[in-house]
Amino acid sequence: MGSFEFSQSNQIFKNRDVLREDYTPEELVGRDEELSEYHSALQPVINNELPSNIFLYGKSGVGKTAATRFLLDRLQDAARSIHDLDLHAVRINCDGLNTSYQVAVTIINRLRSPEDQIPMTGYPQSKVYQFLWEELDQYGTILIILDEVDHVNDDSLLYQIPRARDNGYVTSAKIGLIGISNDLSYREGLSAKVQSSLCEKEVYFPPYDAGELRKVLEQRTQVAFRDDALSEDVIPLCAAYGAKDSGDARQAINLLLEAGDIARNENAPQVTKPHVDQAKRKLESDQITTGVSKLTEHARLTLYALTTFAADGETPVTSPTIRERYLALCSSSGIDPLSHRQMQSHLSELKMMGVITGKERNLGRRGGKKVLYGLNYDLGLITETLADTIDEIGVHRSIQSFAKNCSEQ
Ligand SMILES: Nc1ncnc2c1ncn2[C@@H]1O[C@H](COP(=O)(O)OP(=O)(O)O)[C@@H](O)[C@H]1O
Ligand SMILES: [Mg+2]
Repeated sequence: MGSFEFSQSNQIFKNRDVLREDYTPEELVGRDEELSEYHSALQPVINNELPSNIFLYGKSGVGKTAATRFLLDRLQDAARSIHDLDLHAVRINCDGLNTSYQVAVTIINRLRSPEDQIPMTGYPQSKVYQFLWEELDQYGTILIILDEVDHVNDDSLLYQIPRARDNGYVTSAKIGLIGISNDLSYREGLSAKVQSSLCEKEVYFPPYDAGELRKVLEQRTQVAFRDDALSEDVIPLCAAYGAKDSGDARQAINLLLEAGDIARNENAPQVTKPHVDQAKRKLESDQITTGVSKLTEHARLTLYALTTFAADGETPVTSPTIRERYLALCSSSGIDPLSHRQMQSHLSELKMMGVITGKERNLGRRGGKKVLYGLNYDLGLITETLADTIDEIGVHRSIQSFAKNCSEQ
């Protein structure tokens, strides 16, 4: 039996935990302009005036949540030393909360003691709102931060909170609403009346460029990794990948974490470029797996058809060739096939997702072009992600022999 002793391996990381999602850095780098706008939008709070409602938006991973934690910590510190300012803040992540009702219950429960909690269903909406106003009215100033507010499908609460004071639902509390959204089109979808109250002050967080990501990664590296644990090109490479993808700091940090893990597993003395490339592939394949799992039935059938050719080593193939196999798969399992044009649009979608490749070839003297399709990923990975479809439709001969070869190796 092998040795399954655990021993501490600390060559690479000094503090790996700071690369995880839930860590908030002490300082935010490269966000001075946004922080300063956000800071001035919060200024009325410290003056003990009515807070402005604030709307923060920008793609995922651009520092909205981190900036909010950062400024709220400072705001609350400052408020503690001002004797007539009674400031309280509730921050809720709305992921998983679909309605204003559920958000209201969550806020109430956050403010109430454990023995006074209310259930997620059962009360009429008006009763829940009444509970909410009672809770809020106990504070001098209360800030309600709804992070990822785009998950909430109705705007009732976004409409009611800014008007609670004017409508006499609360008498003393000064309420400020801060909405944060990863979805850039969310604001446009709000009704005019909600827009004008929620978006009193707006702060936009643009994607990071490679230079900014580099600073973010350098800062994090100092706390996360041992000195000299990264070869010189690692941070620039992670930053470049991150900027090319979507300017998302979360992704860039995650890539660095994954590369560090790979290096540690290999017992390598240093994280180097090949570790980053390997990490990049791993994260991509995780992404592909999730992507394929969300595809519609016919998109999967189209991918399955192409996969059978890949298993026989016959890729790249043209769309009419894929179509024949697609039709055969449909007919053998009693599914109504899509038109060629519709199937073609699934091929384009799969290509856009990066699951398959499509290379244009000129047809020589006859003129015209054709596109040759192939898998962009390892055949084993794709058949794994298609497992459910293959179970349903039946295993194609090509896949069977591919699987057989794999197990014999
Ligand atoms: N300017 C920055 N400086 C340091 N770390 C940052 C910065 N911006 C983002 N991060 C880090 O990147 C990750 C994603 O940021 P986050 O604020 O959660 O993004 P968002 O809320 O916009 O999706 C977090 O780990 C955060 O600490
Ligand atoms: Mg966030």
